[in-house]
Amino acid sequence: MTFAVSPPAVHVRAPGKINLYLGVGGRHDDGYHALATVFQAVSLYEDVTARHADDFSVTVSGVDDPATVPLDDRNLAMRAAKLLATAAEYEGGVALEIRKSVPVAGGMGGGSADAAAALVACDALWGTGFSTARLHELAARLGADVPFALHGGTAVGTGRGDQLNPALARGRFDWVLVPSDAGLSTPVVYGRLDALREEHGALADDPPLSLDVPIPVLQALRSGDSELLSESIYNDLQEAALHERPDLETTILRGIHAGALQGIVSGSGPTIALLCGSPESAQHVQNELRDRGFDPLHVHGPVPGARIIG
Ligand code: C5P
Repeated sequence: MTFAVSPPAVHVRAPGKINLYLGVGGRHDDGYHALATVFQAVSLYEDVTARHADDFSVTVSGVDDPATVPLDDRNLAMRAAKLLATAAEYEGGVALEIRKSVPVAGGMGGGSADAAAALVACDALWGTGFSTARLHELAARLGADVPFALHGGTAVGTGRGDQLNPALARGRFDWVLVPSDAGLSTPVVYGRLDALREEHGALADDPPLSLDVPIPVLQALRSGDSELLSESIYNDLQEAALHERPDLETTILRGIHAGALQGIVSGSGPTIALLCGSPESAQHVQNELRDRGFDPLHVHGPVPGARIIG
């Protein structure tokens, strides 16, 4: 493989996501569940800067508790850089600097955004020149949400959530996000869903191993009508996440009381995503929740996936 002349540093920005619809089917033998989901990338970003180095290293800023983000091979951005180096037979390393804005372990794909950003940054830094399809394939090996962080916009995810098709979404949707101080573990929430399904009498392998996003969700996205969309946003992981964190139900109700059209747990939680009818309404909901002691963020979607900004 040949490498083009490369810049001294590459800065890539990748968005966090909301699953505005998340249907979870049965569990495959590899432990992953069949999904039918609609991702929307929102205006909350991870910034990753890659610089030439002999070895691989990661530094992280923008988090209250640095201990919540590993800096070794458990870090998904580090794994992404090493995976690309192996695939490209690149013999050097990289120093990755991550500035986080997406809540850690918040159900918004922050770690996946870091990995997608690292793939794009290292590809440019090293002059690897991989195609989008090849980067997508590497992304899917890193985690189910990583391909979407590359892709951005609004997309339907099937399989493990990694098989993507763009969804037509008109206009802009305003969301108020309510992060939590403590994160939730994704495997724990999926495990809780399985346990609840067994308790409810459904055998673990009863749920379908292939499922679709309901047509009304896609129609609402195409119409650009937030009210219509609010009638069909849904998350199969919500009951399991609320089981781990019953207080989140109050957060949703407070958001609706403040004027949000609807609220759901984002992905495996614990971040709550409140859909609002307009930027002004979102601003109002944000102010009301702030007055009640929450730390809400007003974002909008869809926004583009991982891209070089400098
Ligand atoms: O792919 P990712 O590393 O983000 O997944 C984290 C965990 O979430 C998996 O180990 C699995 O327990 C659960 N998961 C799942 N089914 C999916 C996606 C994730 O069970 N489709």
